[in-house]
Amino acid sequence: MSNQTTLTFKAAPSEAINGDITIPGDKSISHRSIMFGSMADGVTNISGFLPGEDCLATMKAFKAMGVKIDGPDENNNVTVYGKGIDGLQAPTQALNVGNSGTSIRLLSGILAGQSFASEMAGDSSLNKRPMMRVVNPLKQMGANISASDDGTPPIKVTGGGQLTAIDYPLPMASAQVKSCVLLAGLYAKGTTTVTEPGITRDHTERMLQAFGYPVTVEGNKVSVTGGGRLTACDINVPGDISSATFFIIAGLIAKQGSITLRNVGMNPTRVGVLNIVKAMGANIEIINERKAGAEPVADLIVHASKLNGIDIAESDVPLAIDEFPAIFIAAATANGITRLRNAEELRVKESDRIQAMADGLEILGVDCTVVSDGIDIVGGEIGSGTVHSQDDHRIAMAFAISSLRSNGTITIQECDNVATSFPSFVALANEVGMNITLETN
Ligand code: S3P
Repeated sequence: MSNQTTLTFKAAPSEAINGDITIPGDKSISHRSIMFGSMADGVTNISGFLPGEDCLATMKAFKAMGVKIDGPDENNNVTVYGKGIDGLQAPTQALNVGNSGTSIRLLSGILAGQSFASEMAGDSSLNKRPMMRVVNPLKQMGANISASDDGTPPIKVTGGGQLTAIDYPLPMASAQVKSCVLLAGLYAKGTTTVTEPGITRDHTERMLQAFGYPVTVEGNKVSVTGGGRLTACDINVPGDISSATFFIIAGLIAKQGSITLRNVGMNPTRVGVLNIVKAMGANIEIINERKAGAEPVADLIVHASKLNGIDIAESDVPLAIDEFPAIFIAAATANGITRLRNAEELRVKESDRIQAMADGLEILGVDCTVVSDGIDIVGGEIGSGTVHSQDDHRIAMAFAISSLRSNGTITIQECDNVATSFPSFVALANEVGMNITLETN
């Protein structure tokens, strides 16, 4: 977010956690529902939309391209009046997508296929993040697209060129890059195939199918053929397992109690956190398994548990990529050492999440050793002190829940960014027994 952020969390210890809460909508699916709804023929009704700043940034971008969108209303319903795959209009000024990596990277694929010119940038954090990972494949497809000299935003698209399908082996496990190339593939001549080095979230593939667009998935290869159309449909957004994670870990590390989390998205490409905490000894019941449109959903009952340190399986890393700040807090309370490797992607998220967490853990007296692609964390006592979110929503929320096991108050600076993905976090945390107060300065 901006440099004038002023919100501080003061998280005081609490004895127990108890309650029954509903997890707000999934960020990845909310973004895609606006994008696909805008490019579809007909009216798309979305329920359970996440009214976080990132998803609102996507909404604003499509409104700037001539799409009429109503909502979100007080029940998080949104209506998108689709313009068709060829109906977007040139924005009158550069699009500002705030803090949102998903917006800028997925939109790059869409904008590359348009006849008009466009430009996108974001806030000071997003403007430092790597964009050549999307610019390179789009250039290979024939797009006239560029980033700044150091490979960061702004992204500029000249537009107007005909895209050609490519076979693209993803250099890193990234759903944003995969989705960007597939979205450009909708506008390309021929069949575009993306090959993944590891499984990443498949919401784009599922939603394309829900909008009636043929997608072929064979092992780790995903293909789309350009020239088709999307048909509007109703989208019921499941709760975000990445948001639920803060309450899963809170429930596990609490000294006592149990917490029920309703409406948790259980897409198999997102459940790495459950695999990891189960390996650490977590006691979690999964009940009411059901479908929310194209996505599986369940309710979770999380019981306070004694956790053990583990070596985190490499295959779980892309399936839990947004969950590591919270998992590191679980590791800090566990019995023994937890080791993470092959997670260099964490260094290019909203902050360098390996270093940001290590810096805070050190301030709280937790012993950890950083390596280039991971960290070793020695479980033990959590102290108190003042840590910095590094302007990263998930770092802020991770340190907030660490107060369940700290020996005093943890002050977390620069927490405005929590509103990008989880505006109701503090209210829900306090509802289940945490003790977080807000200070603005
Ligand atoms: C996302 C993919 C992931 C994730 C991000 C959302 C998406 O990013 O970290 O929060 O919606 O596709 P990467 O593709 O960079 O791993």
